[in-house]
Amino acid sequence: MSRSAHPAGPRHADVLPEGHYTAPAADLNVLDPKVWAQTVTRTESGSVSVGGIDVADLAEEFGTPAYFVDEADFRARARAWRTAFGHDADVFYAGKAFLSRAVVRWLHEEGLNLDVCSGGELTTALSAGMPADRIAFHGNNKSVEEITKAIEVGVGRIVLDSFQEIVRVAHIAQSLGKRQRVQIRVTVGVEAHTHEFIATAHEDQKFGIALADGPAAEAVRRALTLDGLELIGIHSHIGSQIFDMAGFEVAARRVVSLLAQVRDEHGVELPEIDLGGGLGIAYTSDDDPREPHEIAKALGEIVTRECEAARLRTPRISVEPGRAIVGPTAFTLYEVGTVKPLEGLRTYVSVDGGMSDNIRTALYDAEYSVALVSRTSDAEPMLVRVVGKHCESGDIVVKDAFLPSDLAPGDLIAVPATGAYCRSMASNYNHALRPPVVAVRDGEARVIVRRETEEDLLRLDVG
Ligand code: LLP
Repeated sequence: MSRSAHPAGPRHADVLPEGHYTAPAADLNVLDPKVWAQTVTRTESGSVSVGGIDVADLAEEFGTPAYFVDEADFRARARAWRTAFGHDADVFYAGKAFLSRAVVRWLHEEGLNLDVCSGGELTTALSAGMPADRIAFHGNNKSVEEITKAIEVGVGRIVLDSFQEIVRVAHIAQSLGKRQRVQIRVTVGVEAHTHEFIATAHEDQKFGIALADGPAAEAVRRALTLDGLELIGIHSHIGSQIFDMAGFEVAARRVVSLLAQVRDEHGVELPEIDLGGGLGIAYTSDDDPREPHEIAKALGEIVTRECEAARLRTPRISVEPGRAIVGPTAFTLYEVGTVKPLEGLRTYVSVDGGMSDNIRTALYDAEYSVALVSRTSDAEPMLVRVVGKHCESGDIVVKDAFLPSDLAPGDLIAVPATGAYCRSMASNYNHALRPPVVAVRDGEARVIVRRETEEDLLRLDVG
């Protein structure tokens, strides 16, 4: 984490507690475009707007907490990935980051494909009109029902994750009289520089089949002999929230070397490789994400070079960005409930949501930014911890950040870059009602996932 341990905060320098936090911006009213969705701006009245609508109006109409997604920004990012990878490659949006029917329609319209990893995601995709052949089905333990449905509806590919699954999918496909297009997910053995829980290419974890010492080659051997399967390629996903391209390059090189081995052994050139998702986004001003065109260029060059060296035809490349598309396009809007200064430590700001709408801080020690958005303030910066209303002290939304010291109950604050893995990992802890997702575009706001109600909670409670 690239954070300064010695912030140069005015007046505060002598009273700041130990910690790792970014120095307060010179002007807390300025919103860093790196972390905010594209149409977010401060209006003349001092409050913030998105898609041309003031957050105070949004709060009044939709309540807080709520996620607001900038639809134009989502579409622009989806398009940027599509354009960067061009016609010789496919972009599969990773639905786990955030999926709803509106999102599926946006993706369809912008020419992206979709990666799903459960029956629920598959149903959502199909119900919003995503053609089945543009869907990839993932998961390390897909159920027989999920596999059967995926094959019956005709998904474009199933990504196989274990030896048992190779046989299971082949068997189900055969019993349905079909031949299913599949890829084999391999673990390439690179250490991605990210949180342990979201790194997936080192060998000691549950995903994929190891490349080193032969299991992946053996998996290919078996898949090629089974009538129910059409093996179209190799898949690698090295982890998530990664900034360094080196891991992807090593992965690409190792996957291509497996393709060469398969050609030598079986006389078959597998036509596709998928290099997964995982590109990092800016959660704070210290993060410097790569642009899609840089990523496309780097991956394209390395695959082409390695294939030329191995005298292989260059396979069709696909990628699966989730966070990099949806993450930066949304923010969570909260109302401040209490402001509790702890002398010599920091000020605890309690909001009306918490770990039920953003578990990432508690789970991965994730860093976020925060801003006062219902007004401007020239008050001194104060070091805050933004916390939720749940019954545990780890219920932290933003661990260390600066807000103006005149912050008061009733103010609206917003946490940017919450489009990915926030609503999709939201819970009902303490019987919290999961917040709505509201899409804002060109002066219009519409709910795309509605707020849960107490009736929703009781509907499942049938005891
Ligand atoms: N492809 C596969 C096979 C994946 O497992 C994932 C993410 C992706 C693509 C998309 O990765 P992305 O581009 O969004 O980084 N809950 C964690 C992230 C878990 C990622 C799981 N797999 C978080 O909040 O950081």
